[in-house]
Amino acid sequence: GRPGGRPGKLLGFTAVAPSTADTFVVPPGYTADVLIPWGTPLRADGPKWRRDGSNSAADQAVQIGMNHDGMHFFPTGRGRECDRRGVLVLNHEYVDQSLLFPDGAAVMTKEKVDKALAGHGVSIVEVAEERGRWKLVDSRLNRRVTGATPMRFSGPVPAAHPALAAKGPVLGTLNNCSSGYTPWGTYLACEENWNSYFGTDDASWKATPAQARYGVDKAGFGYNWHKADPRFDLAADPNEVNRFGWVVEIDPFDGRSTPVKRTALGRIKHEGATVTESRGRIVVYTGDDQDKEYVYKFVGSSPWRSLRARGKSPLDHGTLYVAKFAADGTGTWLPLVFGQGALTAANGWADQADVLLRTRQAADAVGATPLDRPEWVAVHPHNKDVFLTLTNGSGGGPVGPRTPNPYGQIVRWREDRGDSTSLTFRWDIFLLAGDPKYDPKVTLPEAQIFGSPDGLAVDDDGRLWIQTDISNSSQNLPAKGYDRIGNNQMLAADPATGEVRRFLTGPRGCEITGVTFTPDQRTMFVNVQHPGEATTAWGTPTPQNPRAVSNWPDFDPAGRPRSATVVIRKADGGKIGT
Ligand code: FEO
Ligand code: CA
Ligand code: CA
Ligand code: CA
Repeated sequence: GRPGGRPGKLLGFTAVAPSTADTFVVPPGYTADVLIPWGTPLRADGPKWRRDGSNSAADQAVQIGMNHDGMHFFPTGRGRECDRRGVLVLNHEYVDQSLLFPDGAAVMTKEKVDKALAGHGVSIVEVAEERGRWKLVDSRLNRRVTGATPMRFSGPVPAAHPALAAKGPVLGTLNNCSSGYTPWGTYLACEENWNSYFGTDDASWKATPAQARYGVDKAGFGYNWHKADPRFDLAADPNEVNRFGWVVEIDPFDGRSTPVKRTALGRIKHEGATVTESRGRIVVYTGDDQDKEYVYKFVGSSPWRSLRARGKSPLDHGTLYVAKFAADGTGTWLPLVFGQGALTAANGWADQADVLLRTRQAADAVGATPLDRPEWVAVHPHNKDVFLTLTNGSGGGPVGPRTPNPYGQIVRWREDRGDSTSLTFRWDIFLLAGDPKYDPKVTLPEAQIFGSPDGLAVDDDGRLWIQTDISNSSQNLPAKGYDRIGNNQMLAADPATGEVRRFLTGPRGCEITGVTFTPDQRTMFVNVQHPGEATTAWGTPTPQNPRAVSNWPDFDPAGRPRSATVVIRKADGGKIGT
């Protein structure tokens, strides 16, 4: 890519200040337009969004889902029109049941479970720019993939595996956090906190060691779906939970294609799936977002074009590795292969399917390095440097310079020989996040402080884009060291100099997550997730307006806050960030 803007200067915009306002702020000279908020009908004649939460499950299944997250723009326009028309594919991580239903979350019914399932998953919508405004197109490509969409399994854990023999058909994807995309034009939706949806009221139920390792327990995160749908009752349908924790491949250009769970990529709480290439072989990086979990990479067995020419999926043929970081700045990728190292029959491993179904335990057994919530991975397009956000956590270990670690850091590594398939690397801490008022080790300029980095991308010019997810139990609170940082935000960094500049701030209670560009980098799409999530800092929600702290983006006193995509452009038509 060509460097944007002034020669030699990667970051050309005026930094915005931290904000606690219920608005979305971009630098002077930029515009921000709301696109496809939660509930937008996919088709012009579809059911309209109702501001009181009274849309049915069937309505929600043909509307944009809730809590927008990872996202990718696939151009559909021909030639220069590729920058003005494309399919936007985006995840809907979870639902806030107090906003989803008119009567809140206290009583669960099958209709409510069905609406919640329909609010999850992925939206696939064609969008186009007309006279400077991006709009949803009434396209045959528009569709939803939800928690109830038929799916296939592929790879070393086949659908016929006994662990996947649940009572019903293979349905749905849940808690799709970050995402990825492949060089052959498909989208990868990742299943993160899937354990949260399962539970049971059966007093005799006990978690197996593998279930306990993934946090599967009787209550989940309190969704209570198991009270109305036996599919989510751990005692009634014990194998259903094994169908989650995977990376799901979706073809956005074939509305009739069945999404595929690609088991060779392992079963963890996948944050994202970042794909790069080395001499034709794909490499997929994926973090397991929980305190003291690991970062993984999958290396394809052969060049992806030759695999596809033989009718095979490049995501089904390869080796999964987990990272071990040493204190001296070196690192190693350890194979998660049955029969190798500790993963033998003598140690209780049955076969490769067993290793993949219990990926976390396999990584424990080989001695992977625990990290502070490993989330998004981004690969620099020019030099293949890899960046990983460690959002926050208990700290410690070779990559944890702070104990505890409320602010997180961005770790960077270079695979040996600059080859993404290498099994050894050298790493450093690229940026230590935080506020120097509370941690003198932080060297960020006072005006550019941030915390809890989560979303991450490198554009074609090499700008590193950083999105934050400060939890609402910390946001803006002095006792948590977050009183000077403001609402969640997005910053840009220059990987060569370490310069950081705040690019935008979100409305109250939200996180900023998901970022993609048109090929010309003149349009950026970002997502605002869970605006108005209740906070201790901003008062008590009321029954009329359960998330009174924010009413973004509609500002309708009788409405409710809605996650949405925001389209960012430069008024002079220039590249974003210049
Ligand atoms: Fe869903 Fe790890 O953020
Ligand atoms: Ca989130
Ligand atoms: Ca995230
Ligand atoms: Ca997050």
